[in-house]
Amino acid sequence: MRENWTSKAGFILAATGSAVGLGNLWKFPYTVGMNGGGAFVLIYLFLVFVIGIPLMLTAITLGRKTQLSVYGAYKSIDRRWTFVGALGVICSFIVLAFYSTVGGWTLYYFKTALFGDLVTTDSEALQKIFHDLMTSPGNLIFYQTIFLLATALIVLKGIQQGIEKYSKWMMSSLFILLLMITVRSLTLPGSMEGIKYLFIPDFSMVTPTVLKNALGQMFFSLSIGMGSMITYGSYLSKKINLLHSAVMIPILDTSVALIAGLAIIPAVFAFGFEPSEGPSLMFITLPAVFASMPMGTLFAILFFILVIFAAITSSISMLEIAVSYFVDERKTSRNHATIITTGIIYVLGIPASLSLSGYYPINVGHLSLFDLYDQLSSNILLTTGAFFMTIFVGWVLKPKNAIAEIESSSIHFRLAPIWSVLVRYVLPIAILTILIESYRNFFQALFH
Ligand code: PFF
Repeated sequence: MRENWTSKAGFILAATGSAVGLGNLWKFPYTVGMNGGGAFVLIYLFLVFVIGIPLMLTAITLGRKTQLSVYGAYKSIDRRWTFVGALGVICSFIVLAFYSTVGGWTLYYFKTALFGDLVTTDSEALQKIFHDLMTSPGNLIFYQTIFLLATALIVLKGIQQGIEKYSKWMMSSLFILLLMITVRSLTLPGSMEGIKYLFIPDFSMVTPTVLKNALGQMFFSLSIGMGSMITYGSYLSKKINLLHSAVMIPILDTSVALIAGLAIIPAVFAFGFEPSEGPSLMFITLPAVFASMPMGTLFAILFFILVIFAAITSSISMLEIAVSYFVDERKTSRNHATIITTGIIYVLGIPASLSLSGYYPINVGHLSLFDLYDQLSSNILLTTGAFFMTIFVGWVLKPKNAIAEIESSSIHFRLAPIWSVLVRYVLPIAILTILIESYRNFFQALFH
């Protein structure tokens, strides 16, 4: 008997837990910074509404209809499309290998904050903490291991007692603390510059690369394209209103991304850092914000706990993609499936951490293994998976069957005609156009 979520709220929190993660707190602010600010934010919001919400609906509908893992979902409808499900499972290994590396960094930062060594406004000292971590293979491996173990322990406990239970309390606390930190950041002198940067668009900054980055960021942030939402949808009972969930999850996720932007970017300006700093942005600037507030160390500790929570509620959804494949298709027990999948991710993930440290330069073309995983996850894998999903639902499953599934919980899907046109024509064409740019950029980075 397949386990179900205990309630709609349980599902929404778990799915929002999957969506809200390092993509919001760490990646979104620095990606905004590297792509010119306000115009990127505006494009991002547009994409969430036009592509993100319709595809969220597509994914959870596919999951609930088939009640199977991503692999089984495609296979059960048309065997020839099994490869898309297989792609999802393979992606989950690569993305989690990358994600757990950064998850490890957040654990290390939590420890540093706990020992009182993090909170300072001295930007050189902050840069040194980050650099020291990056050049310490021992620390990188140790913290990544802990992160993966925590992920595995939750997934071992199953849907209700594991994923739903932990997502519920971790997500609720995350919201409260993020708001407190944002208020502090916004009241710093000089923060207005940051707010302007986030919300006043300069369209001269928009290039095809910016569009590609916005789309990649959106799929990553909404956990769409490799099967997390299909998998979570497969644990939904037939009573649940899918429309409501498909709108709520992206709205919550996007709100957290914007709040994280508001917590981090104004502080970057207030302390004279560069918003285009890149992946180290959250790790180098936020401690300076904490240093400027009363009880800063306490806030820093709490903040990093919450980043860890956000990261773990996402990583469990990635692991669940692979675990549910083994449970459904290979008839493995949940325990065995979790051990096997975590093992594979570990073997892929440790070299990624090491490739950063400079001691073991593992490169593929011109990219370190870590950068390769990062580029693949942010720009290629999820976008490709999402492209296949729209074609599949638009032309193989057919919108009318998906609509019947949505309406089976006695609701009327008023926007069904618009949604059908979107999944059949608009989204595949739009995603494909941007995807070509993604592949071009990716191969350029790899070989030039
Ligand atoms: N949405 C997560 C984040 O923003 O951190 C990352 C993620 C989770 C991506 C699950 C893909 C996925 F299937």
